[in-house]
Amino acid sequence: MHILVVEDDDSLRAMIAEILALEGFQVDTAASTSAAREKLSQRSYPIVVSDIYLDERTGLDVLRDVKAASPDSAVILMSGRGSMETVMAATRGGAFDYLAKPFETIDDLINVVKRAAAAKSSETNDSEVDIDDVPETEMIGVSPKMIAIYKQISLAAPTDATILIEGETGTGKELIARMVHRMSGRATQAFVPVDCGAIAPSLLESELFGTLKGAYTGADRDRAGVFESADKGTVFLDEIGDIEHGFQLKLLRFLQEREIRPLGSARSRKVDVRVVAATNKDVPKLVEEGKFREDLWFRLNVVRIQVPPLCERSQDIPLLADYFVKKYNARYNQKTKLLESGVKAMQVYSWPGNVRQLQHMMERLAILAPQQRIDSEAVKEAIETMDSRQEASETLADTESEQIRRVLAACNNNKSRAAKVLGIERKTLYRKLERMGLG
Ligand SMILES: Nc1ncnc2c1ncn2[C@@H]1O[C@H](COP(=O)(O)OP(=O)(O)OP(=O)(O)O)[C@@H](O)[C@H]1O
Ligand SMILES: [Mg+2]
Repeated sequence: MHILVVEDDDSLRAMIAEILALEGFQVDTAASTSAAREKLSQRSYPIVVSDIYLDERTGLDVLRDVKAASPDSAVILMSGRGSMETVMAATRGGAFDYLAKPFETIDDLINVVKRAAAAKSSETNDSEVDIDDVPETEMIGVSPKMIAIYKQISLAAPTDATILIEGETGTGKELIARMVHRMSGRATQAFVPVDCGAIAPSLLESELFGTLKGAYTGADRDRAGVFESADKGTVFLDEIGDIEHGFQLKLLRFLQEREIRPLGSARSRKVDVRVVAATNKDVPKLVEEGKFREDLWFRLNVVRIQVPPLCERSQDIPLLADYFVKKYNARYNQKTKLLESGVKAMQVYSWPGNVRQLQHMMERLAILAPQQRIDSEAVKEAIETMDSRQEASETLADTESEQIRRVLAACNNNKSRAAKVLGIERKTLYRKLERMGLG
């Protein structure tokens, strides 16, 4: 493999050339930026090692020349006078790495060059994932289990049948509920999601059925419930396994009669809503334990859609990963490539996540993958950080300031978005920015 070494210090240049030659590389040298240009015009170098401060032009210009000639070359910059600005310019310009001079030991340089060489040779057989026929849908998946779900949706959607969607968190239950609505005759009407687990049991009744003025102290006006405001549309009852036993009977009555009686009202009236419910709990088990009414369970699962966890349909991972990378590349104006080895790594390290976690990981990687390449290393690291971040949201990798800068820039300085991508609390991000002098 050919390497070009650009260094104006004669003895250092000779030493680097000799050591890299001993490591088996074919080394050419240049003592100035113009000599480097000359060499670059003669052949392309997969790896270039360049000093930063050279003559009237710098290593950053060499970097630019190399990238213009062969964008895939790895450029390693080194400098004895590094600053935040040069490091940032090097990163932005696509440098492979940046070394401080003097080297602690020459091994530092050798290791970086070897790493670049390994990346180069893996690149040739680690090709970019190429998925054509990108489906015209936001629901991704071609595994037999997903196809079975598509069939269920297409059969059940046009009917008014109540549907119960079961699956672990992040598997796509809400997406499926929206699909059902969109493919039904109610598509032009409202789709109203209600998170039954997040609403206090005492408020759920008025939320769903409404309240008349004066029904209780503080009820200063009539409030329509969800079932009324979604008339002719679809109500999505999320986390249905969380509703209180007492309220389950009221919900059962509603499903039987399709009538609402707002709190404080003596009269009931008919509404026309389709109910789609979802849960990540094992409802049959709740029924067995006496925590969920069996009659309500029967009422709800007229059609039962069971969404498999991602690990049971790992052949969908490449499709989903590709879809999310494209989505976030577009959103953050990135050109990150998804490589075969990256996809393999996702399938091998079946981390305990579902589609949502995969989506979050791809969002991070679109911005933070080294050299904008999602390979097995990048995936391994992302999985590790995501795991550790769940435990201690305060810890970030060593390169954290650089990461924060990149993410902030990609997010147009939107701090909430950046915190989300980084997987930390917004408060934590503010604290870190303050420490970086950017608060
Ligand atoms: N098959 C899929 N294709 C594309 N995106 C998907 C798919 N499944 C899920 N997603 C995306 O993953 C994220 C999580 O999905 P969703 O909110 O539907 O999960 P959920 O099962 O309702 O999770 P929870 O139980 O935590 O509420 C969403 O952003 C959704 O768009
Ligand atoms: Mg959900």
